[in-house]
Amino acid sequence: MSSRDHWKSKLGFILAAVGSAVGLGNIWKFPYVVGKNGGSAFIFIYLACVILVGIPILVVEIYIGKKSQLNPVGAFRFFQKGKLPFSLIGYAGVLCGIIILSYYSVITGWICHYLMLSFRGFSGTETEISEIFTDLNATPWLNIAWHTFVMVTVVAIIAKGVRNGIERVSKILMPLLGILLLMLVCYAVTLSGMKDAWHFLTYPDFSKVTPGSFLEALGTSFFTLSLGMGAMITYGSYLKGNVNITKSAVQIASVDTLIAFLSGLVIFPIVFSNGLEPSAGPGLIFKTLPVLFSKMPGGHIVSVAFFALVLFAAITSAISLIEVAVSFVVDEYKVSRMKALVIMGTVIWLLGILSAVSSWNVAGTSFLDLFDKIASCYMLPLGGLCTALVFGWAISNEQKKSEIGSSAFSTALLFAAKYISPVLLLLVFLKEIGLF
Ligand code: PFF
Repeated sequence: MSSRDHWKSKLGFILAAVGSAVGLGNIWKFPYVVGKNGGSAFIFIYLACVILVGIPILVVEIYIGKKSQLNPVGAFRFFQKGKLPFSLIGYAGVLCGIIILSYYSVITGWICHYLMLSFRGFSGTETEISEIFTDLNATPWLNIAWHTFVMVTVVAIIAKGVRNGIERVSKILMPLLGILLLMLVCYAVTLSGMKDAWHFLTYPDFSKVTPGSFLEALGTSFFTLSLGMGAMITYGSYLKGNVNITKSAVQIASVDTLIAFLSGLVIFPIVFSNGLEPSAGPGLIFKTLPVLFSKMPGGHIVSVAFFALVLFAAITSAISLIEVAVSFVVDEYKVSRMKALVIMGTVIWLLGILSAVSSWNVAGTSFLDLFDKIASCYMLPLGGLCTALVFGWAISNEQKKSEIGSSAFSTALLFAAKYISPVLLLLVFLKEIGLF
């Protein structure tokens, strides 16, 4: 495996992993899930999930990748013990990445469309502005065009390799994302709704928490940390030498959580300043926010900054999604990176067309919703569960400790990964399939 591309620096790895983690899940999903579940009490539960499951599984995935120096399929085969076909977990991960990217690219296309519109500024009545989204969805060629644009961009970045493509782009986009987010937070602080937003995000009201909130928090933390499908295994496989995996995982999870919280701190003041409900749902950034941008002083610049921020976050996540499939084809079939990219890019692009044409559906459910449900509700928790089981029960303690260390913190993480995470992930999965 000496020809394997590796990260140039530890910082490059951290930024690429943060780039994978920070995406639509943080800026689009997290705020509306928080809104729906009553605010800060939910954030406390979310934090507990990140600590008890997110960080341990992140450590496990990075470990599996770094130790094996292989794509998820090869990596699970590397740890094969007994007769159970561990590599199936890797195959499911590759498939899951393909499915997620096919619709993630369509949503990223919507962001591109809104960014373009932001340059002109949103104007018109509330109905007219929220109809932009309905019109976009009803125009298949436009959706396909943006989806194609996103896929070509992602493929062009990946074509340059791990070090010169993924790492370089992450080193530019992640700091830019940080700057844009801080600018937006500074702006949000000046709004009248900031006080209410701060209260909403920091004073827990546990009466709003339902049993379902626990599982939703776990599922969301898993998605936003890019866990359960081998993305972090793949990024871990490009690590070499002495890397403190535990410390890296804590850093990645902390930045991911901070960015999710700051996104809420940008979105909720805007929502509260306009007397709206925080639980607007998935339409929040495509329907509600543009209407508010059109009314706000300086809303034009704020909307450009906001959609650019979301676009950068989405592109770096999309990169990690396709990299899983590409590394699989390169490692397993010994083809060139370029060939693997063309094959996988085309497959994902074709699959994405199903989501881009919103009028196509299965029993009344759009392909986009269906794929999201299959991948993020079933495949990710199940993938995480299997990963935790392999790590906990098929890899010896000596092997783990040689890479992860034996400090009290590492020991606690190993304990959580072996006993706590699988149980909680099993609960999420059973809840998703409706068993309780
Ligand atoms: N973490 C990304 C987000 O929050 O949008 C989504 C994601 C990327 C999930 C990569 C899984 C993955 F492997």
